[in-house]
Formats: sequence, C-alpha cells, structure tokens
Amino acid sequence: MRCDQTSAWAPLQQHAQAFRGFDLRHAFAADADRAAALSQSAPYVFADLSKNHVDAATEALLQEMAQQTGVAAQRDAMFRGEHINVSEDRAVMHWLLRQPAGSLQGELAAPLAQVHETLSAMLAYAEQVRADEQITDVVNIGIGGSDLGPQMAVLALQDFALAGKRFHFVSNVDGHELAGVLKGLKAEHTLFLVASKTFTTQETMTNAHSALQWFKAQGGHDVARHFAALTTNVQAAAALGIRTTFGFWDWVGGRYSLWSAIGLPVAMAIGAAGFKDLLAGAHAMDQHFQAAPLAHNLPVRLGLLDVWYRNFMHYTSRSIAPYHSALRRLPAYLQQLEMESNGKRVDRHGQALTYGTSPVLWGEPGTNGQHAYFQMLHQGTDIVPMEFMAVKKPTHSLKDHHELLLANVIAQAQALMLGQDDAGGHRHFTGNRPSTFLLLDELTPASLGALIALQEHRVFVSGAVWGINSFDQWGVELGKVLAKDIHARLVSGDASGLDASTASLLNRVR
Ligand code: F6P
Repeated sequence: MRCDQTSAWAPLQQHAQAFRGFDLRHAFAADADRAAALSQSAPYVFADLSKNHVDAATEALLQEMAQQTGVAAQRDAMFRGEHINVSEDRAVMHWLLRQPAGSLQGELAAPLAQVHETLSAMLAYAEQVRADEQITDVVNIGIGGSDLGPQMAVLALQDFALAGKRFHFVSNVDGHELAGVLKGLKAEHTLFLVASKTFTTQETMTNAHSALQWFKAQGGHDVARHFAALTTNVQAAAALGIRTTFGFWDWVGGRYSLWSAIGLPVAMAIGAAGFKDLLAGAHAMDQHFQAAPLAHNLPVRLGLLDVWYRNFMHYTSRSIAPYHSALRRLPAYLQQLEMESNGKRVDRHGQALTYGTSPVLWGEPGTNGQHAYFQMLHQGTDIVPMEFMAVKKPTHSLKDHHELLLANVIAQAQALMLGQDDAGGHRHFTGNRPSTFLLLDELTPASLGALIALQEHRVFVSGAVWGINSFDQWGVELGKVLAKDIHARLVSGDASGLDASTASLLNRVR
C-alpha cells in the first residue's frame, strides 16, 4: 500500500496541523522521560532523537504507516535477494558483501561464496600493494559511487592508514583535476585504480585513457602492474589493456558499492583486517535492521522521521554536520546516497506521486559550518532539521581541542532548541529548531561501517514508505545523452535546431 493510502496518512496530516504549536522546550518540561524515550542505541551508534519535532503519538502513527506500507516485508524481500529494483529487474544485495562467509543457505549460498572469493583476492592484492614500497601513490579514477564512498572512507579512517602511501581521487572530467594530481607523480611509483561499475562512464573513461597516455609518455610500460580495474565489466577493462581486475555484480548499486571491489583503496589504506572490520560493523547494523522491532529499530525510526518531516512538516532539506574533520566528505557521500536513491517523482510502478520524496541534503563539518551558514539555521525563515554527528574519543592527544569540539556540537543542538527570548529584534532566536544527534564512541573501521549501513537503511525505509524504487537512477541519463550531442556540435560548430540560449552558449565557448 502506498503511504498516502494508509489509514495513518490523514491522521498524520491532522497531527501535523496540531503540531504547529509544538514546542521542544515545553515537551521536555512536560515529560521527564522524553530524552530516554526518544533515544535509541544500535550497533556502534547512539542516537538522541529527542530534539526532533515528534512525540509519542507521531511515532505511533508513523509506525502504523510503516506497517501498512510493508516496510518490514520490503526489507525482508531485499534480504531474500528478490528483484526489488524493478525498473532494472535486479536484486539489491549490497548487504551480502558484508555477510560472513558460509552464513547463508539456499540460493544465496553461491553468490555469498563468490563474494568471499573476490574479497579474498582483493584483500590479498591490497596487502601486496601495501608491502610494495615502490608504489607510493594510489590514484583512484572513478565518479559517483565509484569515488565518493572510497574517498570518504579513506579520509575518515586516515588514522588507521599505512604511512608512506598517498591516495588521490580523480573524478571530474575537468582535466584540471587529473593534470593537478599527475603533476606530483612519477609513473614508476604510481598505481591507478580505474573504478567503474559499468566501465562506460564518460568521465572515468576519459580520465583512464589520459592516465594511460601519461603513464606511457613517462616511459611506463608495465600496465598490468600499474593499473587495476574495479568493475562488473571485466571485458571492457581488458580492452583497455588492464589485466588486473576485481569484479562485482549487477546487484550492487553504484552508491552502495563501497563494500565491494570499489572499496579497494580503503583496503589498501587500512589493510585487510581493517576492511574486514568495516564490513563487520556494517553487518552488525544489517542485523539490527533485520531483527530489532520496528519501534526500536534505528534505521526505521530515522527513515520515518524523514518522511514525517518531508511530507507532513514540509521541511524540504536536512543539513548534515559531522563534528569530526575526518568525516568531511560524508555530506557529499550522503547526498548521492539519499538524493540519487530517493529523488524520484513516480512510484515503483511508474505512477506519478502526489507527495514529496527526497529532501535536499547538504552540510559541512563542524565547527566550520558554524562560521558560515549556521546563521540561517538559527535565525533564517526556513526550518532545517539538523543531523549532528560526533565521536566521543579522539585519536590525537592535543590538549583542549576535543572538549571544545564536543562542547560546540552539544551547544549548537541546545542553542537551536532553546533559542533566546530575552532580547528582541536582531538578537532574538526563536529556538524550537529540530536536530538529531548521532554519537559514536570512536571513529574506527567498524563504527564507520555501522554508521554508513545505518544511512543506507534509513534511505531504504523512507523509499519503502514512499513506494518508490530507491535503486535506479534514470534521472542522470538525459544529461549524458545531451552532453554527447553537444560535444559533437562543439567540435563541428553545428548549432542548427538548438534553442536560442543553447546555441548562443555553444557559439560563445567555441
Ligand atoms: O550517472 C550516475 C551513476 O551511474 C551513479 O549511479 C554511479 O555511482 C556513477 O554514475 C558511476 O558509475 P560507474 O561506476 O558505472 O562508472
């Protein structure tokens, strides 16, 4: 059943009307148990949801909607390997990549065995490269899911990384990016990883060809040693002369592929044991998502909160504020995860929706954001639900810094909620602004794995309630097709048949 057909839809709309007068400060004053009732522990992650615009009645209605939209049944279908990606007729099994070896029987036993065979080969290769002192620089060439995940994770886990190897990420077709990276490299010390699920993506293919040319121009000839491909399209990689390949499967979506061969740079940075910890942390979150009752299931509670805010409170964006500089690429990673998955205007049967889907996600690490756009969050005219993330224990020993960082993140959540009444005009803060607070004990491979799997599953939950296919991305295709046409016209100068604006721009850039 679609969410707007459930018996909870109209009551949620009425509830939202009544909620206009909701005030977090009063809610805390009236209910001594609020913080505890709206806190939730999950593997490696503690979540305080209590500073959100919800109460027990909201959660009860949202749970009713989850029941009627079949969130649990849809989740179980994913974990059974059914083809829930209907528009591409594919299973959705990124979770299988973190499933322990030999832990499944039946139809999934064989794919799981293949997963572990590939994982062993990839981890052995990662260890070999780690031990190879001649390779000092690893360049990942990929875009979207073949870039954002590994880049985010390599940065996040820099404290666990082997010294003596530098990791570079080249994604943009803009040659300035590749040229800038190549400037500092020597062919004999460089390993290029060409990461592309399809091995057809224009940006990645263009960068890979240029990297190959550069390598040869620098006198390099051992392509097999200096290039590896991470792809489901092993033949296309071979056609480029790349012999070292690590495969994955069509049931891994690009934005869910960090756990596959696409994670190779992460495995090279943190080692085989570290990569296994990353997978284990994600698996622990998979188990929580599968087993915890829906009312105490963190991905479910977060996904339902997202639906509540988007469709009933009409908050159209969510700001991500990781208070940890190593998580600085997390907002970009989450943007693709949420917006490419749930930025859909039709349901899974192709019927137009009458309600909103993906919010806009955006953000920067704290405390930097505080000195840039937090003004708008505190005193702007729109309400933007915040998602704070903090890590209790630092890995450095610099005095004072971490206490100051933690003081800031807690104070920001507090300030958004409390506001300031005692001053009028410009100094007035209305307060009552909502936030979620996610806390990790430490930032480790395992806790990062759990945090990312949590985000994957919350996106699944809101997508399931909305009745959309969260696993296709047809919306990126049109631009790709038109770019090909414009590229040909840029070369030929033919602007015939174009609209006046496009024709004029084409002529100006030629
Ligand atoms: O164009 C969008 C997209 O297909 C993403 O879904 C994907 O992560 C990215 O491009 C890269 O695709 P590939 O790994 O096939 O190069």
